[in-house]
Amino acid sequence: MKLWQENIKKITPYTPGEQPENKNIIKLNTNESPYSPSPNVINALKNYNINNLRLYPSFVCDELKTELTKIYPVNKDEIFLGNGSDEVLALCFMTFFNSKKSILFPDITYSFYKVWCNLYNIPFKTIPVDKNFKINKEDYFKQNGGIVITNPNAPTSIYMDTSEIEDILKNNKSSIVIVDEAYIDFGGKTMAHLINKYDNLVVVQTYSKSRALAGIRVGYALANSELVSALESVKNSFNSYTLNSLSQLVATEATKDTQYFNLCVDKIKSSRQWTINELNNLGFSTLDSRTNFIFTTNKNIDAKYLFEKLKEKNIYIRYFDKPRINQHLRITIGTQEQMEKLIKAIKEIIKKTSIS
Ligand SMILES: Cc1ncc(COP(=O)(O)O)c(C=O)c1O
Repeated sequence: MKLWQENIKKITPYTPGEQPENKNIIKLNTNESPYSPSPNVINALKNYNINNLRLYPSFVCDELKTELTKIYPVNKDEIFLGNGSDEVLALCFMTFFNSKKSILFPDITYSFYKVWCNLYNIPFKTIPVDKNFKINKEDYFKQNGGIVITNPNAPTSIYMDTSEIEDILKNNKSSIVIVDEAYIDFGGKTMAHLINKYDNLVVVQTYSKSRALAGIRVGYALANSELVSALESVKNSFNSYTLNSLSQLVATEATKDTQYFNLCVDKIKSSRQWTINELNNLGFSTLDSRTNFIFTTNKNIDAKYLFEKLKEKNIYIRYFDKPRINQHLRITIGTQEQMEKLIKAIKEIIKKTSIS
């Protein structure tokens, strides 16, 4: 082996859900929104002056930050923007988790956290969630180099009361606690208003789920200005222009349209309840969801089998071949029509399986 081959950084990357080329599928596998972005976005893109693409984008992202200050009680210097919340989280890990102590996060949570730890050589310990998949706050009252809590958690969909996360913050004053709120708009309470009460709190959110803009890659962190300034320094040592001009424009326009946003979120919540009821009537046991997906199991049907059978019918959901959750399925909430097709397909599969 040549020396340069030995020196290559070897890492096991994150595996995202499939993005099949076939557009004729019902895609319920990556928690995207089934609804189109706000009509504001469509108008802004139609009227966009293409000549602007000659120029570098704004690296202060002033317009987008201004819109965000209208929906959260924060100042512009308390907002850090990035190319999707994955990039924001990656930069948070790089910026805040630099001690020799292990950072802590649940054993069942967003699987990218482990990948960043391995990439940056951050020691970590996973803390098992209980048998009902709940995070126990006391498990985080111990020495650590930082904490990450996804609220509501993924892929379990379970919400943790913010007062419990406040207890984690109070018991960990000398380490940074990141609260990943990717799914908060579907029924949770954001902790954004607490960033000045707790100087160790970093709240991370995304435009990919509730704002139907996974394709433009915009995410952000809300934290006190000292933490945001540290994030800016690390980002500017890497790439100053992470957010392109079109993404900034699209996200700004989407943020303005709160009415459309609320309408889409309400539709998703109502289809979520409908789907949970239907599944539970079919013998499934589904966790209480505050997200745009559900996490469900049925002791009479093997989860992987059902996942594969649905795929044969062009319905894509998510299966994790991992300990503790390999009999569960994660299903994104699509349109009501898509969910009705899903339930119909599951009924057909169950019927065929019980006859044969
Ligand atoms: C918990 C959680 N955090 C962060 C992300 C990343 O989202 P994005 O990079 O699209 O903003 C996801 C995406 O699925 C997620 O599930």
